[in-house]
Amino acid sequence: MSAEAVTKVAASGQPVEVVRFEHVTKSFGSGREAKIAIQDVSFVVHDLPNTGELISIVGPSGCGKSTLLRLIAGLRPHFPPTSGSAYVFGKLIEKPGSDRGMVDQKYSLMPHLTVAENIAFGLQLRGVGRRERLARAREWAHKVGLDGSERAALMESWARLKLRQRL
Ligand SMILES: Nc1ncnc2c1ncn2[C@@H]1O[C@H](COP(=O)(O)OP(=O)(O)OP(=O)(O)O)[C@@H](O)[C@H]1O
Ligand SMILES: [Mg+2]
Repeated sequence: MSAEAVTKVAASGQPVEVVRFEHVTKSFGSGREAKIAIQDVSFVVHDLPNTGELISIVGPSGCGKSTLLRLIAGLRPHFPPTSGSAYVFGKLIEKPGSDRGMVDQKYSLMPHLTVAENIAFGLQLRGVGRRERLARAREWAHKVGLDGSERAALMESWARLKLRQRL
């Protein structure tokens, strides 16, 4: 969640509800073939002001963790729920938004872009100019130890990584 969004809602003086699920069920298919991914899930996540938080969803494979996260992100085919309502910052989730991000367990990178362009892609969607977004991408590449590879084509970096793994 973006810090801006949290700060904005907190200004109202009410405890901020970051996520609310009310009796959310998601099933795929219908009739006897229907596969229930999550059933009648209700919870609220409040923001604790000025506190860094990390919230985990733990459960066996297939219990519905990704379904729940993709519903919050507004990503199909998990979104929309089959029944029930899901809210972010008090608003019914209607589509993906720049106030939410999701890092998938599988790679979700664009192989035709450089490492820096991949890092900067979210900023591009927000309309940040090329010079500024690449400067910010370089800053973040440095923070996570990717110095020097920002300009490399992603495929090149992958090939190097694979080679290193094999060695
Ligand atoms: N697109 C889909 N079509 C049909 N069934 C699906 C789809 N996506 C998920 N499911 C089913 O919904 C259930 C929950 O899946 P989900 O991927 O949310 O589980 P998970 O907890 O994230 O599992 P894992 O730990 O393996 O990532 C599973 O039974 C899965 O087979
Ligand atoms: Mg999953």
